[in-house]
Amino acid sequence: ASGLDTAAVAAGKVYFGTATDNPELTDTAYVAQLSNTNDFGQITPGNSQKWDATEPQQNTFTYTQGDVIADLAKANGQKLRCHNLVWHSQLPSWVTSGTWTNTTLIAVMKNHITNLVTHYKGQCYAWDVVNEGLNEDGTYRESVWYETIGEAYIPIAFAAAAAADPNVKLYYNDYNIEYSGSKATAARNIVKLVQSYGVKIDGVGLQSHFIVGSTPSKSAQAANLAAFTALAVDVAITELDIRMTLPSTAALLSQQSTDYASTVGACMETDGCVGITIWDWTDKNSWVPNTFPGQGAACPWDDNLVKKPAYTGILTAL
Ligand code: XIL
Repeated sequence: ASGLDTAAVAAGKVYFGTATDNPELTDTAYVAQLSNTNDFGQITPGNSQKWDATEPQQNTFTYTQGDVIADLAKANGQKLRCHNLVWHSQLPSWVTSGTWTNTTLIAVMKNHITNLVTHYKGQCYAWDVVNEGLNEDGTYRESVWYETIGEAYIPIAFAAAAAADPNVKLYYNDYNIEYSGSKATAARNIVKLVQSYGVKIDGVGLQSHFIVGSTPSKSAQAANLAAFTALAVDVAITELDIRMTLPSTAALLSQQSTDYASTVGACMETDGCVGITIWDWTDKNSWVPNTFPGQGAACPWDDNLVKKPAYTGILTAL
């Protein structure tokens, strides 16, 4: 029987995949479906490669949890999207409340990148090098990175990652860049900025955390993807989920299926769109209810690990 990854690969894509997270891996029914390579040819660790997990104290690196996910991918024969190196969130306090100069913070950032990329060398299909560097209006987010180093932190980060592993694909990843507007334009300017330094950037990840009934149309998403690939970079849908105000109804589940098909269809008709990753596959383990109170049911499988209409919507669009 054809599954999501089987269909995506047959249509010329590199993978269809899902995020996962360490606490979920004690659930045997969950792990069985996560490891079903008909559906998932790729996984992303939802938390365990982030800065707070990997460098909780300065220059003390812990890879135990991240390695569990990397080893699972290897055992299953799945690609691994590695996530992420430089972000404003989930930073330990030694980073956010340190007293840094331009020089010392660049050294901290490069040390972190070099350690992680070297540790996972040969194991990642791609790294999200810089995550969520932009505000909604397209200005740079006022993170410790931008405030201390300026916009050059972005090309410096990509250069450090490329030096540690010349073969892994290097991505800029963000949300609300899935349709045209100031933020998408600014993300393209980040691609151009990195390129202007003579530094490698391979792709842009469009997170695609959407709301049922208000996702951009398939044609709008496809046009937006094409504007990125015109810059000679790949694109990927990296964190797709489509939430609703609870409780879910048959009408909402039907609209959700249509909405999933729009995003998947936009990737399918874009040559440089390499793959699609959902931000976990079951509502049981979705991040949505914790982050958006009153909302949920964002994934293609329900709380009982049963396929929802969205599964068929995705499969039909592949
Ligand atoms: C989320 C995780 O899924 C949650 O478990 C965690 O509490 C917060 O982060 N954009 C990203 C992801 O790039 O890293 C975030 O993941 C979701 C939004």
